[in-house]
Amino acid sequence: MSKFFVTTPIYYVNDAPHIGHAYTTILADVLGRYHRAAGDEVFFLTGLDEHGQKVKQAAEKRGATPQAHCDDLVPRFLNLWKRLDIRYDDFVRTTQERHKKIVQLVLQKVHENGDIYTDEYEGWYSVAEERFITEAEYESGQFRDVKKLKEKNYFFKMSKYQHRLIEYIEQHPDFIRPEHRKNEMLGFLRQPLGDLCISRPKARMDWGIEIPFDRDYVTYVWFDALVNYISIPGYGSDEEKFKKWWPADVHLIGKDILTTHSIYWTTMLFSLGLPLPGTIFAHGWWLIGETKMSKSLGNVVNPLDLINTYGVDAVRYYLMREMVLGLDANFTPDSFIKCFNSDLANDFGNLLNRVSGLIQKNHGGKIPEPGAVTEHESLIQMNANVLPGSVKLLISQFKVQEALMETLLFVQSLNKYMEIQAPWKLAKTDMKAANRVLYTAAEGLRIATIMLAPVMPEKTAAVLSILGAEDTKPVWGQLRPGTPLKSHPPLFPRIEVEKA
Ligand code: ME8
Ligand code: MG
Repeated sequence: MSKFFVTTPIYYVNDAPHIGHAYTTILADVLGRYHRAAGDEVFFLTGLDEHGQKVKQAAEKRGATPQAHCDDLVPRFLNLWKRLDIRYDDFVRTTQERHKKIVQLVLQKVHENGDIYTDEYEGWYSVAEERFITEAEYESGQFRDVKKLKEKNYFFKMSKYQHRLIEYIEQHPDFIRPEHRKNEMLGFLRQPLGDLCISRPKARMDWGIEIPFDRDYVTYVWFDALVNYISIPGYGSDEEKFKKWWPADVHLIGKDILTTHSIYWTTMLFSLGLPLPGTIFAHGWWLIGETKMSKSLGNVVNPLDLINTYGVDAVRYYLMREMVLGLDANFTPDSFIKCFNSDLANDFGNLLNRVSGLIQKNHGGKIPEPGAVTEHESLIQMNANVLPGSVKLLISQFKVQEALMETLLFVQSLNKYMEIQAPWKLAKTDMKAANRVLYTAAEGLRIATIMLAPVMPEKTAAVLSILGAEDTKPVWGQLRPGTPLKSHPPLFPRIEVEKA
């Protein structure tokens, strides 16, 4: 048994959660569930980023304190995660005392190491990104809400670690993934790395964590948020816990925050003398049609609407099935319905309906005896026994989409087998053969269902309950002949296009 520590970004509390946030969180949940099923001990950490200018402004607009404003907004995320069956182990809010005091400890340590200094700085500041941007970034025109700003601030000596960082990335091919993102970071590091501004004068912005060695300043954004990955597993507060979990196995992030994770965070960890996370995995964007989702474009997809229409498991399945990890994906109602109808209604749902329908009709509603098998059944049995290993390997490489494809291929092969064997005909001429075919299809269905459980916890629990196979393992032969099947409505009724 080993441990698996997975994180999501901590999302800005001020933004309404959309399918982009849901995606990363479901992905972490799915990886966590696969690892738990494989016997690993899992720590899945998510949460919210609550400090900063935008939160303060929004609170002022409502006439609330920033803290009360945050408290009001938190349930939007908590409720969504509940609806999405997200089984996190801890939920951090950066305004919690347990986090704030560790941020201060980190600042103190980095300061004592000589890695923090003050400077008067003048540069382009992106209000949207909440950070100073470089001249090159400014010229790229990719940043909104930019203004020139001059003030005295505290800086973290990121540049000191540039060489070490490049070496580390080159020597650890799995550290930044996918590959093209690693190359992008190495490209970025070919330019001299600047230092990182980590403070704001309270006079300008006070909704942050006070800098322990200068009470006129706060830190927020990256020096605050990134620290959650160590403050919550016990850095500086619970040594045993921290030793158990750190380093994280994977930080899941969107490509928008790759630089902050692979460069800011990494150099902060260097300064603290802590080991680096195993992998920083940057996934792509969910695009709406061809464009990025954004509040100003009014094309934000609210996951609650989708859940209400199609059910939570269908949403989870679609998001996992449709995005190749690392690439962008297009969200369209069309592709949602196509994916649902082909994978869930036609393949998986149909297999269940046929198996249970025929067992009810021709086999007294009980799982039949397999009897002596032929080469057809041996082949299926072999594929079923190989499937968990392939899925495990793919999951260890973060290839969730491919793991689902493998599983669906197996489901399709079971449907094919049913068509060729036609047990509804066999039931009239050779009952033993009909029994064998239905046992095999039902047992294959059971194993495929277990493989899909991390992605569709509710529906798969329903299928296992129908088969009387709760708490079974994905090993051939655990389905017990004689077990009565529960009756059920179709679990994945086809979506008719008019309805959508
Ligand atoms: O950046 N497609 O928070 P944030 C896919 N607080 N994923 C998307 C997405 C999209 N269209 N839009 C957002 C922050 N995401 C900081 C993080 S971490 C120490 C601090 C997801 O609310 C994706 O995971 O802007 C992305 O990285 C994250 O939301 C950004 O969330
Ligand atoms: Mg963002």
